[in-house]
Amino acid sequence: MRPCGIFIAVVFSYFPVHSYHLHHPRSANDTLGVSQRRAEAVKDAFEFAWSGYHTYAFPNDELRPVNNSFTNSRNGWGATAVDALSTAILMESQDVVTTILDFIPSIDFTVSKSGTLVSLFETTIRYLGGMLSAIDLLDGPYSYLLQPSRNTTALERQAVSLATRMKFAFNTPSGIPANNLYFPTDTYDISVPTGLAVAGSLILEWTRLSDLVRLLDFADLTQHAEEYLLHPRYTNNKSLPLPGLRGTDIDLRNGSFTNVRGGWGGGDDSYYEYLLKMHVYDPEQFSTYKDEWLKAVDSSVSGGMFSHPYTRPDLTFLSSWNGPKPTDVTGHLACFAGGNWILGGIVLGNQTLVELGQQLTDSCAETYSATITGIGPEGWTWEVDDDDIKVDNQFYDDNGFNITSIDYDLRPEVLESLYYAYRATGDPKYQEWSWKAFQAINATCRVGSGFSSITNVNAPHGGKFTNFQESYMFAETFKYAWLIHAEDSKVHVGKGEAQNWVFNTEGHPFKVRAKQIEGH
Ligand SMILES: *[C@@H]1O[C@H](CO)[C@@H](O)[C@H](O)[C@H]1NC(C)=O
Ligand SMILES: *[C@@H]1O[C@H](CO)[C@@H](O)[C@H](O)[C@H]1NC(C)=O
Ligand SMILES: *[C@@H]1O[C@H](CO)[C@@H](O)[C@H](O)[C@H]1NC(C)=O
Ligand SMILES: *[C@@H]1O[C@H](CO)[C@@H](O)[C@H](O)[C@H]1NC(C)=O
Ligand SMILES: *[C@@H]1O[C@H](CO)[C@@H](O)[C@H](O)[C@H]1NC(C)=O
Ligand SMILES: *[C@@H]1O[C@H](CO)[C@@H](O)[C@H](O)[C@H]1NC(C)=O
Ligand SMILES: *[C@@H]1O[C@H](CO)[C@@H](O)[C@H](O)[C@H]1NC(C)=O
Repeated sequence: MRPCGIFIAVVFSYFPVHSYHLHHPRSANDTLGVSQRRAEAVKDAFEFAWSGYHTYAFPNDELRPVNNSFTNSRNGWGATAVDALSTAILMESQDVVTTILDFIPSIDFTVSKSGTLVSLFETTIRYLGGMLSAIDLLDGPYSYLLQPSRNTTALERQAVSLATRMKFAFNTPSGIPANNLYFPTDTYDISVPTGLAVAGSLILEWTRLSDLVRLLDFADLTQHAEEYLLHPRYTNNKSLPLPGLRGTDIDLRNGSFTNVRGGWGGGDDSYYEYLLKMHVYDPEQFSTYKDEWLKAVDSSVSGGMFSHPYTRPDLTFLSSWNGPKPTDVTGHLACFAGGNWILGGIVLGNQTLVELGQQLTDSCAETYSATITGIGPEGWTWEVDDDDIKVDNQFYDDNGFNITSIDYDLRPEVLESLYYAYRATGDPKYQEWSWKAFQAINATCRVGSGFSSITNVNAPHGGKFTNFQESYMFAETFKYAWLIHAEDSKVHVGKGEAQNWVFNTEGHPFKVRAKQIEGH
C-alpha cells in the first residue's frame, strides 16, 4: 500500500499533474485550510438539518422539510435522532450529542409506536448500529463529550432491550431470521423469504453487541444464520451463481436459496460488504468470510460483471446477475462496492484490488458530473457492444449510460466510496469530487427546514421535492462528506491491515475486536 492521508495530499498539491483540478497550485497550509473550511461547511449543513428536524419533527422519525411536518416510517422511535448521534459525536457537535443522549433512555423499543411491522434489518443497522457506535465512541476517544458523571450504561441497556425484543425473528425452523416482524404478537409470515442482504448484514451489529455486553447469544444467532450463506444450497440448482456469488431470496424453513439472481446492488449488497468487514472486525475468527469475499470479487471480474460501456470504455460498472448471465443494470446503491473493494485492498495489502475499486468509484463519480444538477441518478443501464444500441441518444453517447431511475434519495454511497479512495491513495481529486457532489446536493436538495429527496437529477433544480428526509442522510451522507476533509478525525480508515474502526452499512463506526492499534 502507498501511504495515505494528509501527507500525500500535501505533497501532491505541489505537482501540477496532480492539481489539474485546481485553479492555481496551493501551498501545504492552503490545502489544510481548504480542508478545514470544507469540513466546517459540511458540519454547518448537518447542524442546519438537525435544527430543522429538532424544531419540527423530533422525537418522530423523519422531518418533512418543505412544510415542517414529520413522518414515522421507522416505528416512531426517533430514527433521525439515533441515526444522527455518531455523526454528531465525530463532528463534536456537543449540543446535538447531549440532546440525543438525553432522549435515547426514554425510547420504549418493546412497542412499535407507528405501524405493526418492524424491519429487523433497518432497525438493526440504524437504531442498534447507532447506539453501539455511540458506546464505542463515548467509551473511547470522544469520552469528553459525555457530561460529567454521565456514562454509556443507558445506551447499553437500550441496545440490549432492542435486540432482545427482536430475537424472536431467528426462531424459524432454519434459524434464518424473518425480516418483517409483527410486534403485537411476536410473529412473522414463514412463507416470505428473507433477502441475502438482510440475513447477511446483522452479524456485525449483533456480534459487537455480544462483545460489549458479554452475552453470547446475539452473536451466535447471526453467525448460525450466516452458515447458510457461506455454504449455500439452492432449491433449483440447475444454473448456479459463480463461485462466491449468491442468489437473493432464502427460504426460512430450510435455509435454501429460492433463486440465483443477484449482484452487488440493493437486496444483496451488504452481505458482500460484511464478509470483508467481519474480517476487519476480527481477522482470526472471520478469515473464511474474507475468502468468500475474495471469491465474489474474482468471479465478478472474471465473469463479465466488471463491465465497460461501448461508448465509454474508460468507465466500469458492476453488472447484476440474472440467471445464466450478467445484465448491464446497476444503481446508486451498488456504488458502495468501489469503496468496499478499496477497503479490501487496504486490509489485504492488494494494490490490484485498490485499483479495481478506484475504477468503480471513479465511474460512479462520473454519473454525478454527467447530469444537470451534478447529482447521480438512482439507476442506469448501458450496452457493451454497439449492435445492442437501439435508440439514438446524445446523453448515452456522451456518458456511456442511460438513466432508468432518475430520482435521488439523499443516498451516501458515492461519497462513501470517494472517502475510501481518498484514504487509500491520498489523491486530492477525491476530495474535490466529494466537495463538488456535496455542494450539488446542498444546492439542489436543501429546502425549507432541511433536505429533501428530488425526483429528477437531470432537470434544473432537480425536478420536484418529495418532501422526505431519510435518517441515513444524517448517519452517512453528511458523515462521509465531512470525513474526507476532516484530516485529524480519530476514526479514519487506517493505512494497513490492522484497523481500529469498521463502519457498519449505515456509516456507524464500531471499534474492532482484534488487538487495538494506536490511531495515526
Ligand atoms: C452510570 O450512571 C448511572 C446513572 O448515573 C449509575 O447509576 C451507574 O452506576 C453508572 N454506571 C457505571 C458503570 O458507572
Ligand atoms: C426448501 O423449501 C423450498 C420451499 O418450500 C422448497 O421448494 C425446496 O425444495 C426446499 N429445499 C430443500 C433443499 O429442501
Ligand atoms: C443439487 O440438488 C440435488 C437435489 O435437489 C442435490 O442432491 C445436489 O447435491 C445439489 N447440488 C448442488 C451442487 O448443490
Ligand atoms: C489481489 O486481488 C486480485 C483481485 O481480486 C486477485 O485476483 C489477486 O489474486 C489478489 N492478489 C493476492 C496476492 O492475493
Ligand atoms: C434509454 O432509456 C429509455 C427509457 O428510460 C429507453 O426508452 C431507451 O431505449 C434507452 N436507450 C438506450 C440506448 O438504451
Ligand atoms: C449550502 O447552502 C447554503 C444556503 O444556500 C449556503 O449558505 C451554504 O454555503 C451552502 N454550503 C455548501 C457546502 O455548499
Ligand atoms: C405536508 O406535506 C405532505 C406531502 O408532502 C402532506 O402529506 C402532509 O399532509 C403535509 N402536512 C401538513 C401538516 O401540512
